[in-house]
Amino acid sequence: MLLLTGGAGFIGSNFVRDWFSTGGGPLVNLDKLTYAGNPRNLEGLPAGAQHAFIHGDIADRDLVSDLLEKHGISAIVNFAAESHVDRSIHGPEDFIQTNIVGTFRLLECARAYWSGLSGDRRSSFRFLQVSTDEVYGSLGPNDPAFTELNRYEPNSPYSASKAASDHLVRAYHHTYGLPVLTTNCSNNYGPYHFPEKLIPLCIHNALAGKPLPIYGDGQQVRDWLYVRDHCSAIRRVLEGGRPGEVYNIGGWNEKPNLDVVRTLCAILDDESPRTDGRSYSEQITFVKDRPGHDRRYAIDARKIEAELGWRPQETFETGLRKTVRWYLDNSEWVREVVSGEYRNWIATHYAS
Ligand code: NAD
Ligand code: DAU
Repeated sequence: MLLLTGGAGFIGSNFVRDWFSTGGGPLVNLDKLTYAGNPRNLEGLPAGAQHAFIHGDIADRDLVSDLLEKHGISAIVNFAAESHVDRSIHGPEDFIQTNIVGTFRLLECARAYWSGLSGDRRSSFRFLQVSTDEVYGSLGPNDPAFTELNRYEPNSPYSASKAASDHLVRAYHHTYGLPVLTTNCSNNYGPYHFPEKLIPLCIHNALAGKPLPIYGDGQQVRDWLYVRDHCSAIRRVLEGGRPGEVYNIGGWNEKPNLDVVRTLCAILDDESPRTDGRSYSEQITFVKDRPGHDRRYAIDARKIEAELGWRPQETFETGLRKTVRWYLDNSEWVREVVSGEYRNWIATHYAS
């Protein structure tokens, strides 16, 4: 039985969908339901014994220890995190609490539980830490892409907190022998992406007739990966990754932000044209830059391909078109998220 944390968020909920659609076994989904966690992301998925949803915090030692024992957990996949760079700039405290303290507690519980296992159950146990390319810092225009050997040079409170948690994960392997795996992935996009991040924010604003805010000159480069490709990569690492190893995951898809938003506008022009016949790109507006904004990320994903045979399936064009269609078909989900209505549902549902 798998313990997944943060499974009501963007990537976690896509992972649960991917897991069940590829014949995965039962799992426990532990999520604190912060502003980013939305139980609606899990609608239509198996529930009950197949998929036990637990509303709780990864930093709650008693709860986590209890879940590990009660469900005889064989692997932990840690998605739970505060994930938004801009929020970390405005208020880093929650990032320190969940990303560092939370991961530390999860590791402590995992270590205690794993130490009590024996035989195959002990040797096959895994702790998979879902991390980010942002821990490697920022690249110059001609620098080679990040490999697993790059130094950690995080620049934002978010990436610093993720780097700290990755170091703890590494230390628990080195010191205690806990069989850990770490994945460092680039920017994801796709269904259920919270509309605070660039792509879903621009889809929402475009359709609402609002400005599409581009930070600075819009020439910051990110590598983009369709979320379901990230999910399949994590499954591969969980199945075949070597304990103690780090695997970079990326889409071989470097793009400046302005190009991303222009491509998005072109797809929207095609899929849902403006009533005045003009292009959504006319809504692009340059705004003040993000403080300390990293200029370029790029991922060298050759290790996961060579060792585990994983490559992304979607191109940026196919993945982005699927994403736009999903947002057009799920305007009610977006409306509820933007209005905060889903939080009322959480309050009612979990009142007891
Ligand atoms: P998200 O913000 O959409 O979801 C995070 C989820 O974690 C939410 O459901 C939230 O309720 C839950 N959570 C937060 N604090 C918790 C706690 N203390 N205990 C239990 N649950 C808690 O994030 P995401 O974009 O889905 O990212 C998931 C993971 O992947 C994060 O670790 C992030 O650093 C990493 N990552 C994200 C990207 C990306 O592009 N989004 C890329 C690489 C890596
Ligand atoms: O690289 C992986 C990371 O990607 C993950 O670890 C993070 O959890 C995830 O949030 C994402 O971080 P970014 O900061 O790259 O994502 P975001 O969508 O916030 O921004 C993407 C780029 O677009 C970035 O260069 C900032 C820029 N941007 C963002 C917003 C929200 C804008 O120009 N305008 C905007 O309004």
